[in-house]
Amino acid sequence: MKIIVTGGAGFIGSNFVFYMLKKHPDYRIICLDKLTYAGNLSTLKGVLDNENFRFVKADICDRNAVYNLFEEEKPDMVVNFAAESHVDRSIENPEVFLQTNILGTAVLMDACRKYGIKRYHQVSTDEVYGDLPLDRPDLFFTENTPIHTSSPYSSSKAGADLLVLAYHRTYGLPVSISRCSNNYGPYHFPEKLIPLMIANALNDKPLPVYGKGENVRDWLYVEDHCKAIDLIIHNGRVGEVYNIGGHNEMTNIDIVKLICKHLGKPESLITYVADRKGHDMRYAIDPTKIHNELGWLPETMFKDGIKKTIDWYLNNREWWETIISGEYQNYYEKMYGNR
Ligand code: NAD
Ligand code: DAU
Repeated sequence: MKIIVTGGAGFIGSNFVFYMLKKHPDYRIICLDKLTYAGNLSTLKGVLDNENFRFVKADICDRNAVYNLFEEEKPDMVVNFAAESHVDRSIENPEVFLQTNILGTAVLMDACRKYGIKRYHQVSTDEVYGDLPLDRPDLFFTENTPIHTSSPYSSSKAGADLLVLAYHRTYGLPVSISRCSNNYGPYHFPEKLIPLMIANALNDKPLPVYGKGENVRDWLYVEDHCKAIDLIIHNGRVGEVYNIGGHNEMTNIDIVKLICKHLGKPESLITYVADRKGHDMRYAIDPTKIHNELGWLPETMFKDGIKKTIDWYLNNREWWETIISGEYQNYYEKMYGNR
């Protein structure tokens, strides 16, 4: 089996590459990644010498580069993680989100149509469903919840999802889509809540909590997400959407306080800053379908996953310190300087 994994130098994509090379030692995994600010070749250094792995630096929007790779490799499957993934950046500059997340998805699927494919899998997000109110804990996102997006990021992901389903209906492309809740774990880029708070706390810097910190996210350890995708691409039904999440809802402020506690840092570092525009209140996934059809259940409890994650950041300081010492400083100043 040959699988092209796009965005494999990013957070979830790299964890998926590691998981697949270990779980299926006879598979060939080809990582196609543009290495944007969020992609990091050093993340993949442990597998670059693996004879079943190949890294190709390319943009999923570059039709020639994508077609050439398909021509050469004739993949059986494509798993598309490549995306602009940060909501705050999408609020500042939507265009690149439309480019990569929608047009890039179309280019990949055109290549699948041209060269033939057993499965095209689109890694989507629970954010396409919009948000849920805080005072209705009985409500959850199911696969039938209407698409109702809030940010340019989530709108671009929803646009891509609709296109994927349209390619299935119109051209019969064998597709599947997964919509997962918030992931956490190793190699998470330090612009996102959990790694940002860990890095800032370790540097005794303020911990910027948006609004009142009452927004709720449904956290899943990244390896559980990878296992779910592995199940879907092999056993999931073509043309279907699968929600992925582990019923692990937490407010942002509770997460930040937990990180302070684990690191022995004072809560006085917490600083409430201006809220995100259009900030979604609550995400909560109903994972009944993937559980009933594919037997998937999350395996890592949050208390264990967060400890593993914090330990990883403590033991891999070079990885994130290199990132936050570069261009990231300009980003941080722009986003948080006058907040
Ligand atoms: P990330 O930002 O860490 O990584 C994205 C990767 O895509 C990077 O390696 C980047 O270089 C690459 N990339 C970006 N534009 C590209 C392009 N035009 N061509 C080729 N490569 C390109 O993202 P992530 O958090 O790992 O998310 C991966 C996928 O999972 C995204 O599609 C995202 O929407 C989805 N998702 C993320 C989460 C989460 O909690 N992080 C949850 C659900 C779904
Ligand atoms: O739900 C899945 C989505 O989760 C993915 O589709 C996105 O790619 C991923 O980035 C993530 O989106 P969020 O917006 O939920 O994640 P983020 O880490 O940016 O923020 C989590 C919460 O923390 C959110 O309510 C905003 C808040 N926050 C975030 C940052 C970066 C803060 O309070 N302070 C911060 O500095």
